[in-house]
Amino acid sequence: MTQLLYIETFGCQMNERDSEIMAQLLGEHAYLRTDQPEQADVVVVNTCSIRGKAAHKAYSCFGRYRKLKAKNPHLILAVTGCVAQQDGAALLERMPYIDIVMGPQSIYALPSLVAAARRDKKPQVATDLSANFVIPPFLPSLAEGPAHKRFITIMQGCDNFCTYCVVPYTRGREISRSLADILAEATHLVSQGVKEITLIGQNVNSYGQKGAHKQSQGFPALLRAVAAIAGLQRLRFTTSHPKDLSEDLMRCFVEIPSLCPHFHLPVQSGSNAILHRMNRRYTIESYLDKVVRLREYRPDIALTTDIIVGFPGETDDDFAATMQILETVHYQGSYSFKYSDRPNAKAADFPDKVAEEIKSERLARLQTRQEEISLLLKQAEIGKAVEVMVEGASKAPGNQWSGRTGTNQIVNFSCEAKLAPGQLLMVKIEDACQNSLRGKMI
Ligand code: 5AD
Ligand code: SF4
Repeated sequence: MTQLLYIETFGCQMNERDSEIMAQLLGEHAYLRTDQPEQADVVVVNTCSIRGKAAHKAYSCFGRYRKLKAKNPHLILAVTGCVAQQDGAALLERMPYIDIVMGPQSIYALPSLVAAARRDKKPQVATDLSANFVIPPFLPSLAEGPAHKRFITIMQGCDNFCTYCVVPYTRGREISRSLADILAEATHLVSQGVKEITLIGQNVNSYGQKGAHKQSQGFPALLRAVAAIAGLQRLRFTTSHPKDLSEDLMRCFVEIPSLCPHFHLPVQSGSNAILHRMNRRYTIESYLDKVVRLREYRPDIALTTDIIVGFPGETDDDFAATMQILETVHYQGSYSFKYSDRPNAKAADFPDKVAEEIKSERLARLQTRQEEISLLLKQAEIGKAVEVMVEGASKAPGNQWSGRTGTNQIVNFSCEAKLAPGQLLMVKIEDACQNSLRGKMI
């Protein structure tokens, strides 16, 4: 008998992809996705714990599901992702109405955990995190997620231990998938009409350098192999650690025509003292040197970044150095956050915590300046013809479409003809707004 599944996903692309995988696995057991939690037989909350605020969001939504569970005792409530990994069985003490607590390495067990929870009528906990875990081969169904662009998880976990970060504790040691499995997944997707693939992992630059699937050539070799699949039009990847960005990877931006000119390169801070205390293992000079070289290889490359403000001990001068990085690099966009203490992360024990008002004030200044720079860069596109991949009809009335440039900017444009997601076409840019460009199809 068909049953209904509702999934709520928080956090990063790894979680988004994990949710697709879980939906596909339950789909094979006759579950259909619903967007109405009230109608669901199984609710999965895929949580994030990267910052205190993200974890808090997850906790506050459990309350809503508790009410649903009271109305429908048949409902199975599964909590997955990084909060589940971090809190494990302790979640059940606080919230005994939860049926399943499972970490990111256990997602493949979801159907059997649902069956066990129903059969045994008692909560199931699966939070093993093993350094020997092997990500199983998996052929994605196009029923889950968009038809023209997909994520492929190429590795999971992280060994870098940045002192602010919870990920090594929630996703465990760095584990790469085998090249053969990734290529099989990519080939399968492209044969079904997928035009754009984004290779994802916490730290893709060190793909293949550690664990079971250690290889001599690593990430650039993987990029070249995926790019060779006939029919793939755009290739992207995220996220990279600056210390592992090699000359060979930079060369890929020249050699591989389908590799999109966009690089997300988290800087975190512009101050060497702070970078050192974050255990980032690069200096701001070496970071900037890589930015210069990347732009030599690929002058049109768009850079984006992540920045933390108010890391313990951050002085006015440290923060000024971070503001200076915005001027030096001119990022197309940045994601910026107030530092927050995370369980197990070393910086939680650092002295000299920065006051909340100072963090807020610094974040506001940084975001205001970034918005100005982002808009200036967008305005510089006016008059240019850019290649756009169609995403779909835009919400605006009257033959309006939406797409993305290789640099990952959203472009809204008019076109009388009916377009298909994944189609590539040229658009002349006529106007720039804060979050998107606007133009006309040529
Ligand atoms: N506090 C604030 N921001 C954080 N990030 C990671 N951990 C923390 C933390 N404890 C940010 C980093 C990272 C991004 C995904 O989230 O900038 O690159
Ligand atoms: Fe959040 Fe990090 Fe876990 Fe992704 S890996 S869900 S960003 S804590």
